[in-house]
Amino acid sequence: MDKLTVQDLDAAGKRVFVRVDFNVPLQDGKVTDDSRIRAALPTIRHLQAQGARIILASHLGRPDGKVSDSLRLRPVGERLGQLMGRTVPVTGDALGAGTQDAVRRLRNGEVLLLENLRFHVEEEKNDPEFAKALASYADVYVNDAFGTAHRAHASTVGIAKVLPAYAGFLMEKELANLGKLLENPERPFAAIIGGAKVSDKIKVLKHLLDKVDVMVIGGGMANTFLLAQGKPVGKSLAEPDQVEDARAILAAAEEKGVTVVLPVDVVVAKEVTRGTEYKTISADKVPASWHIVDLGKQSLANIEAALADVRTVLWNGPLGVFEIPSFAHGTKAIARFLADRADAGAAVVIGGGDSVAAITQQGLADRMTHISTGGGASLEFLEGRELPGVTVLQDRVPEAVK
Ligand code: 3PG
Repeated sequence: MDKLTVQDLDAAGKRVFVRVDFNVPLQDGKVTDDSRIRAALPTIRHLQAQGARIILASHLGRPDGKVSDSLRLRPVGERLGQLMGRTVPVTGDALGAGTQDAVRRLRNGEVLLLENLRFHVEEEKNDPEFAKALASYADVYVNDAFGTAHRAHASTVGIAKVLPAYAGFLMEKELANLGKLLENPERPFAAIIGGAKVSDKIKVLKHLLDKVDVMVIGGGMANTFLLAQGKPVGKSLAEPDQVEDARAILAAAEEKGVTVVLPVDVVVAKEVTRGTEYKTISADKVPASWHIVDLGKQSLANIEAALADVRTVLWNGPLGVFEIPSFAHGTKAIARFLADRADAGAAVVIGGGDSVAAITQQGLADRMTHISTGGGASLEFLEGRELPGVTVLQDRVPEAVK
């Protein structure tokens, strides 16, 4: 890691501002998926054990600078408290005299969570005065919010210019696991890229073409590639304006010797709804009024054959209309297959919401090498872009220069 981490910090008695990504799903005032909260625990526990005074801060949703009661962090504080076995107070606002007072009264080893940073419009604007106000609470800054590292906001970039800035353990782990994919993956290396739209993933596809040996394309975005191959896709989700890009990717893959695996048979449905009529057919015979909703058996077998001896796999995005159980078969089958590959010693890295859901729903999470907590952040990283929240952290000075 070329950035300083919490391991390099003597935090005893210090006030530490920790940016976390607690942007988690809520329903009826309860957290429905606490993986992002759990993922931040190693950093929080480490600082606590050192006797730091910990000021946690996060955004939740996109309130656009206005207070929204449904986006308050109280349920998150409650869940964190349950996980830590102690009460975690949440301030009424990220700024103000009450919050300053709560920070002043923090004792060594205690944890405080600031209210949703995005209730202030200055957060997303990376306003320097807002960043300074946040920085005034602390002696040092730790960024453990990998999921927000692609945003140049006051709590991810501005504050790191004011305080000595370190990476948290989650940030370090994400960068190590995703970085290895781009820098020195054990080969053969395969990427499975799914999801609805080519336009969302075009840059990732292009960047990965220089890295992978096998590229599997599935989900709604595969339909645009089928169009590029001259196949009819009926009423399926597709982006005709991306067909040229899809063609260029197929041509580049051939030139670089990358094996591309596209669906050869598909499940088609009359409507994209539960309870509709559906059947499996060849991918070049999709009827004009039907929708492609999942992979067929032969396509799954082709993917498994292409990935039989892989040593590294990246999976991002579902391979069918995963929200509808009848069309989740392909996505779930790939999740199980990848768990087996991981058991056999391959490095299996998962990025992106629905592929993570397919894994956690089937209880397979513990078998994977790494499940990223970042959606947009992991995609931007895999596109080869710099993440502003990482760039701004203190560089490790190489031994030779010291
Ligand atoms: C995410 O969920 O991807 C991060 O928390 C970033 O959220 P944002 O896209 O609203 O900035």
